[in-house]
Amino acid sequence: MLDKIKNAKNEFNNYIKQVKDKNTLEELRLKFLVKKGTIQQLLDELKNVPVEQKPLFGKELNLFRKYAEETFENLKVQFADKQEVNKIDITLAGRTGYKGAFHPVRQIFSEMISIFTDMGFEVAEGPQIEDEFHNFDALNFQSDHPARDMQDTFFIKSYRDDNKLLLRTHTSPVQIRIMQTKPPPIRCIMPGRVYRNEAISARSLAEFHQIEGLYVDRSVSFAELKATMIVFAKKMYGANSEFRFRPSYFPFTEPSAEIDISCFLCKGAGCKICKGTGWLEIAGCGIVHPNVLNNCGIDSEEYSGYAFGFGIERVALLRTGITDIRYFYENDVRILQQF
Ligand code: PHE
Repeated sequence: MLDKIKNAKNEFNNYIKQVKDKNTLEELRLKFLVKKGTIQQLLDELKNVPVEQKPLFGKELNLFRKYAEETFENLKVQFADKQEVNKIDITLAGRTGYKGAFHPVRQIFSEMISIFTDMGFEVAEGPQIEDEFHNFDALNFQSDHPARDMQDTFFIKSYRDDNKLLLRTHTSPVQIRIMQTKPPPIRCIMPGRVYRNEAISARSLAEFHQIEGLYVDRSVSFAELKATMIVFAKKMYGANSEFRFRPSYFPFTEPSAEIDISCFLCKGAGCKICKGTGWLEIAGCGIVHPNVLNNCGIDSEEYSGYAFGFGIERVALLRTGITDIRYFYENDVRILQQF
């Protein structure tokens, strides 16, 4: 019996030398370690040996079994590793991570700012919580102007009755703050967030962004304003874009105009975005009203200026081809990822 065990051990050791991968290791297991394998056969034979020899043979056989099992486990780990390494296909394309990007509205913002700063405009900012004086009075809004109504403006509960606080309804109050502090010539753009108490729809939000522009110097003309707007629009929308100046009214500019661009969606045929007109309003503009200059301590006899204001989300709709302004702020990555 001892010889048999010794032979089995030798045979096992020879086998080990031939194990070179998972398959040959499996052959080793099938030969020695399964129910019908060599070791179990020897264990079965143990029944037939005389009682007094059982402890000796039993011990030898157990040592062998332990040795065989441990050796097998070690080899298994070794070949499993090799197998894993082989599984890596180095010819596969690499996995790329998610790349972050600026929000489409922020991208348009940056582009507009750089077009205007290239033309010599400086960037200025002002507070989003304004007072009635800067948002309305100084801009020549009469005290009964409908824009001052609670239905149009978000007022903030405040202890002052004479100059109520509100969320600014446009970026024009920043014009006032600049003209109050800086003597002409002034050539600024004022990007920022504005608020209006409006019903939310495919075209309008209660919270959106504008870029205001202001140029004040001696003998500033409407022709200069027009030229600046045309240069901007061509850079922003391409040389072939169609736009028109339409006479309009703002309390703080005289004369005033609105700039329309032909609707990107229906190409002028009329749709829900352009309310069937074929045109989309993108900016208001005009020659700064003399009262506004005077309110800020600038002599309107000596100086004149032009101002303009763009709604950024409108511009972003035109550039991205998105048909509903609300998509910009629903944070649906399927939409945001496209830009
Ligand atoms: N403030 C105006 C608006 O919000 C836009 C505008 C700015 C018009 C400057 C004329 C000049 O509608």
